[in-house]
Amino acid sequence: MPVTHFWMTNRLSLFSESMRVRADSLFIAGHALASLADGYGTPLYIYDRATLDLAVTEYKSALRAYYPGESHLTYAGKAFLCKAIAAWTQTHDLHVDCTGEGEIGIAGAGGAPREKILVHGVNKSTADLKSAFEHAGTIVVDNLSELQKIQLLTTNHPSLIPNLWLRLLPGVAVTTHHAHTQTGQHDSKFGMTREEIIEAANFCKENHLPLNGIHFHQGSNFRDPEPLLPAIDLALDIAKEIGFSGTWHLCPGGGWGAAYHEDELPNPSIENYVRGVAEAVIEGCNSRGLDLPVLHLEPGRSLVARAGVAVYRVGAIKQRGDKTWVLTDGGMADNPRFALYGARYSCLPVEGLNREIGGKVSIAGPYCESGDIVIEDLPMPELKEGELIVIPVAGAYHLSMSSNYNGARRPEALMVEEGKVEVMLKRETVEDLLARDG
Ligand SMILES: Cc1ncc(COP(=O)(O)O)c(C=O)c1O
Repeated sequence: MPVTHFWMTNRLSLFSESMRVRADSLFIAGHALASLADGYGTPLYIYDRATLDLAVTEYKSALRAYYPGESHLTYAGKAFLCKAIAAWTQTHDLHVDCTGEGEIGIAGAGGAPREKILVHGVNKSTADLKSAFEHAGTIVVDNLSELQKIQLLTTNHPSLIPNLWLRLLPGVAVTTHHAHTQTGQHDSKFGMTREEIIEAANFCKENHLPLNGIHFHQGSNFRDPEPLLPAIDLALDIAKEIGFSGTWHLCPGGGWGAAYHEDELPNPSIENYVRGVAEAVIEGCNSRGLDLPVLHLEPGRSLVARAGVAVYRVGAIKQRGDKTWVLTDGGMADNPRFALYGARYSCLPVEGLNREIGGKVSIAGPYCESGDIVIEDLPMPELKEGELIVIPVAGAYHLSMSSNYNGARRPEALMVEEGKVEVMLKRETVEDLLARDG
């Protein structure tokens, strides 16, 4: 029977490109979600390669269309990084933003070459910096004491000094749904003030350090590029004061949003975002007589979030007052985003889509925390114990922030294409938990 329910078709557009309804069940890149869940177990994360590729194409064609200078796309590894994703970045010639030694190790093992690795971190350890010296092309310097550590390291590695960019605290945040996803506001822990940047630039000059860029990042999951404009202006004023010319680099970070819930549709347009940034940089450089910088954009979520889905199996269902609790085998250990900042999600049943809405449900996990919630009060068909549900837009900041709370074994993650399933991350076992114990 064809599926026509509005609630369902509307939600379907949140999902990865290759998600289809066939015979009243969901298929991703031609694979039945139910068969994947039976074969690999739940909770299960599935990434659709076509959706990943499409997002890169959108960014690159917008950069080509609106920015006449050189430009590069950097994948923010903090959104989700494993060897297969690092290898995928290299099929598109992306840079990889790595926070510290761990992510540098994964990116390198996945085949990202030195010149493509860029290192971030608000309080980098000496080990992080040493690893950056050995494996990275660029370090984004967060603060003055980090710069002094870098200066000390140059004496041991005179031939391997990565390029340095300075991270600016612009003092203006983008609008996100929670304060904890903002990073550019004046009292943020990230980056340096204008005065500190000038001090850092002078330090680099005096010590012959290879400074050639400015970076800022104002927050994550925003859909209005307006607050980027004063930050771009400030960065260009500073670039002028430092005296950047010829080949210099500007990165206004990442953070472009994604629709997680049907009432946030349509998805924010990548083209509008890139166009807004590119026009502001071009105008700002022209009015200051500055050479156009090499422009870098550093998205994570808008490249990878929509590509991923999380499949959970329903266990018990409880009625408590007005609330219907649907308890699943996934929750805050694989997706802490509700617990951290009240993130919103939507959901579909994997099979039997042609059902009417039965009422509102709240979906929660098996962990011993009342905040172990995935979704609150979402209209859904009446669900049965044992059936599968799937959460869209699960590709970013789930597995990369997952934990072993309550002895949770972190889930399997697959990459799928038509006719192909690749295991990117294996499900952890009790032996894995014990391997680092004592
Ligand atoms: C420095 C930096 N760059 C890029 C990103 C990527 O943000 P998003 O995944 O929202 O695009 C982040 C995320 O916090 C970040 O801190």
